[in-house]
Amino acid sequence: MSRLDSFIRRMMAQRAVLDWATGEIASKPGLVLEIGLGNGRTFDHLREKLPNRPIYAFDRADNAHPASKPPADWLVLGEFSESLPAFAQAHPHEAVLLHYDAGLGDTEANREQLGWISDLLPRLAMPGAIVLSDQALENPALQRREPPVDIPKQRYFLYQMMS
Ligand SMILES: C[S@@+](CC[C@H](N)C(=O)[O-])C[C@H]1O[C@@H](n2cnc3c(N)ncnc32)[C@H](O)[C@@H]1O
Repeated sequence: MSRLDSFIRRMMAQRAVLDWATGEIASKPGLVLEIGLGNGRTFDHLREKLPNRPIYAFDRADNAHPASKPPADWLVLGEFSESLPAFAQAHPHEAVLLHYDAGLGDTEANREQLGWISDLLPRLAMPGAIVLSDQALENPALQRREPPVDIPKQRYFLYQMMS
């Protein structure tokens, strides 16, 4: 498969999973967390699907496209290792949908980050919350679910916070 095909498949899987998850939580209260704002593409998709919902976006820097910038009070700048614990303290178990999209180029750095992110996310998630991730997470409080949409295996990871 060409790299272009692979990229397109990854983006289609991401959109399919986000569309499913936003439909699932549409009638439930709770915050949405976009962990890894980047260019703002998935933030923009989430806010289109969930108008009027607070969607907090986390990143170490604001590099979002001007058309995809969160309002200042939804933008949480800083290292995840500081911003997420502080947010969890202020909003414990208030998120109904968490999207972790922060893959790093460096495999070892990725592995290390996934370890402590896996521990942090359950402090943010409410019981039954949906957690989506571009990489596998490991925490017994997060139950792995097969994506209910047709995407290649291991392309996107879906979890539900224990009730
Ligand atoms: C793949 S990009 C996000 C793409 C974005 N969801 C989109 O659709 O445009 C990952 C982002 O995560 C951020 N990131 C990764 N690790 C981080 C950390 N430890 N603290 C803060 N930001 C981090 C990077 O700065 C980068 O902007």
